Amino acid sequence: MSVGSRAEGTDGIVEAVQAAEERARIYLEAIGQRQVYPTSGALAAVTQFREPFPNSPSRAVDVIRMLDEIGSPATVATTGGRYFGFVIGGTLPGSLAASRLVATWDQNCAFRVMSPVVAEIEEVVVRWVCEIFGLPLDCEGGIVTCATAANFTALTAARNALLARSAWKAADDGLFGAPPIDVIVGEEVHASVLKALSIAGLGQKRVTIVPADSQGRMRADKLPKLKKNSLVCIQAGNVNTGSFDPAAEICRWAHDNEAWVHVDGAFGLWAAASPKYRRLVSGFEQADSWATDAHKWPNVNYDCGIVLVRDPQALRQAMTISAEYLKPGLLREPANQTPEASRRARTVELWAGLKSLGKQGLAELIERTCAHAQRFASGLREAGYEVLNDVIINQVLVSFGASEITNEVMRRVQEDGTCWCGGTVWQGKTAMRISVSSWATTGADVKESLAAIIRIARQVRG
Ligand SMILES: Cc1ncc(COP(=O)(O)O)c(C=O)c1O
Repeated sequence: MSVGSRAEGTDGIVEAVQAAEERARIYLEAIGQRQVYPTSGALAAVTQFREPFPNSPSRAVDVIRMLDEIGSPATVATTGGRYFGFVIGGTLPGSLAASRLVATWDQNCAFRVMSPVVAEIEEVVVRWVCEIFGLPLDCEGGIVTCATAANFTALTAARNALLARSAWKAADDGLFGAPPIDVIVGEEVHASVLKALSIAGLGQKRVTIVPADSQGRMRADKLPKLKKNSLVCIQAGNVNTGSFDPAAEICRWAHDNEAWVHVDGAFGLWAAASPKYRRLVSGFEQADSWATDAHKWPNVNYDCGIVLVRDPQALRQAMTISAEYLKPGLLREPANQTPEASRRARTVELWAGLKSLGKQGLAELIERTCAHAQRFASGLREAGYEVLNDVIINQVLVSFGASEITNEVMRRVQEDGTCWCGGTVWQGKTAMRISVSSWATTGADVKESLAAIIRIARQVRG
């Protein structure tokens, strides 16, 4: 029997999948006990992957053994409850379990004919997300890899729609010689939007920057004159402070002047799911396009970004693919909403995560993580450290004193392994960032992590 070929047989597949399942089970059970960042020994071991491309095949079960034995200890325990770096969600049981089935289905969900079931589920889940954010249900949306891809997709749709107002067909004629588009961003714009502007041909430096206030919110009173070729990029959830731009005011001013408003709401838009926090996203529903991530606050497994556009035609005109052998039907075709054609069915993992939570579960997840962030902030303040931001959602910025001290505390926190937090510089001040984004974080995780951070800070400060 030839290893790695179909002749290896169904038994070989079943054996390998069962082995992977068993190893995954052990990984999941141990995640709460292990140190969050891999040990130096585990990191050193990954060099064992550096081998020449092998001449002979290996049995799938042996490949999985190597992957688990060397790879698993070197992973960062982001699915445990004590990872607070960047803005990284864990993985909900519903999404994780669905990903197993989805991998087995191995559907290409570019076109309905390739996977009718995924195309159907995608239509449903796009509506659900619109409902959660309070957007019109006839907005069009696509499921992409991440917020950067969602920003790129939305900005491309915006670009083409704005140019079409001057009778310029960007999809046909490109950008050389096109009328200009005035792009406006806040001082605290996320790097993802700048990258998206750059790859959409709009330029990341060719922008007007509007000053921000002490929490990073765009100053609506400092907006420049807007016109029907203006593209205003606003933010729901600053990556450092969690703050929200004053969307209602900006959208009113922009729309009075026929400008397009795009929202980068990578995580912040999900505050809309909670009756307690919904007021923070009031006004964002008036924008023209939105980018968000399900792999952040909603805890769908990686990778899962979502783009939404108010005018369905604007998204479709920018993303539609046509070729003789692709004969789309009259129904919605997934590939006509995204830059990708062939892609895996991450849509199903999104659907499974949201279905398993329901409105109530999603609201509880948002509110619980915000409450944990409050607990971190009050514990750190009580211990004498400065919390630099108004903790309005799940983001906390803490300074332990001078830059060198804060950096040293952070280095030791990361080395200690109880929890993991990253760093930033907020308005000139070095800070440690605590982002509580995981469904798996419990009150006990917060208590243990807080105790470790305070213990280490006291050691450093002497
Ligand atoms: C506000 C904001 N926008 C965009 C991004 C980029 O997200 P992704 O890495 O999924 O592209 C982030 C990531 O943290 C973010 O916080």
